[in-house]
Amino acid sequence: MKISVIGAGNVGATTALYLAQQRLGDIVLIDIIEGMPEGKALDMDEAGPVARFEGHIVGTNNYENLLDSDIVVMTAGLPRKPGMTRMDLLTKNAEIVTSAMLKVAELAPKSVVVMVTNPLDVMAYIAWKTTGFPKSRVVGMAGVLDSTRFRFFVATALNVSIEDTQAMVLGGHGDSMVPLPRYATVSGIPITQLLAADEIAKLVERTRKGGTEIVNLLKTGSAYYAPAASAAQMVEAIVFDKKRLLPAAAYLDGEFGLKGVFAGVPVILGRNGVEKIVEIELTAEEKQALLKSAGEVKEGIQDWEKIK
Ligand code: NAI
Ligand code: 2OP
Repeated sequence: MKISVIGAGNVGATTALYLAQQRLGDIVLIDIIEGMPEGKALDMDEAGPVARFEGHIVGTNNYENLLDSDIVVMTAGLPRKPGMTRMDLLTKNAEIVTSAMLKVAELAPKSVVVMVTNPLDVMAYIAWKTTGFPKSRVVGMAGVLDSTRFRFFVATALNVSIEDTQAMVLGGHGDSMVPLPRYATVSGIPITQLLAADEIAKLVERTRKGGTEIVNLLKTGSAYYAPAASAAQMVEAIVFDKKRLLPAAAYLDGEFGLKGVFAGVPVILGRNGVEKIVEIELTAEEKQALLKSAGEVKEGIQDWEKIK
């Protein structure tokens, strides 16, 4: 398997390291900053003998190295900085994603694209439009991250092992995301039976603001360890055709009553990318929250349609 990671910043480089440690394939790390991807790749290669992974990571400024990639993880783009509007971020990152995806379509036409760049769901849509790939081969990483945060908060609140917690967070990757307490469990037991409603509400709110919580602590950037681990888990599911059921941003064509938009939903992820969207049962309130969140993504897509 050849896995290319575009963007060798915090998320991209950390993802490449996780992929190497898990021996998931031959890795290419691409960035526009001269010397930086080569330096990071060499540094990771040099960790191999003690960290016990083999294989060569190619760091490069040259997009031609995308050639025949099986999987492309797109992390290039700006994280939101103080004073930057959502629209500023969308405009700049849309340019970066569009130019990178034209190269992906040309050089790696059979690849599965795992989008990470924010605003996530809109960027996944742009990647799908720009590459012309079937909807199954463009998937966005956010639900795994938001769910792993929710799982961690649940495990901490209940003082139970993270191994036993599961969670499902749907919708767009923003403050209106939809954590689903009814589908959050500890060894199959819904947390609605284990925690009081007000405690659950606090965990839900913390999950929704999970990205902001880290930004406020770091001050100079956004989260990358959990995002990179989440992207690597999706790559692993694709490499080993695991058919994992994970929340991820997928193109919706009528599922959950949504059409023409990417949003986080439960998907089966395997070698072919999004192999199925699993339409779980939602209460009227949950469905309403999902529609609202996807509506915000649609507005972002419309903003992009105006400026492209
Ligand atoms: P970063 O600033 O550390 O890295 C971004 C890298 O992209 C930089 O090294 C930059 O040189 C590179 N880059 C810019 N234009 C490029 C181009 N045309 N081709 C190749 N490389 C290019 O940022 P970080 O923290 O790695 O975040 C990257 C993106 O991922 C941001 O948009 C961030 O908001 C998003 N993100 C999304 C998450 C999610 O859950 N979907 C979670 C965490 C971050
Ligand atoms: C996060 O949720 C910034 O989207 C990124 O941490």
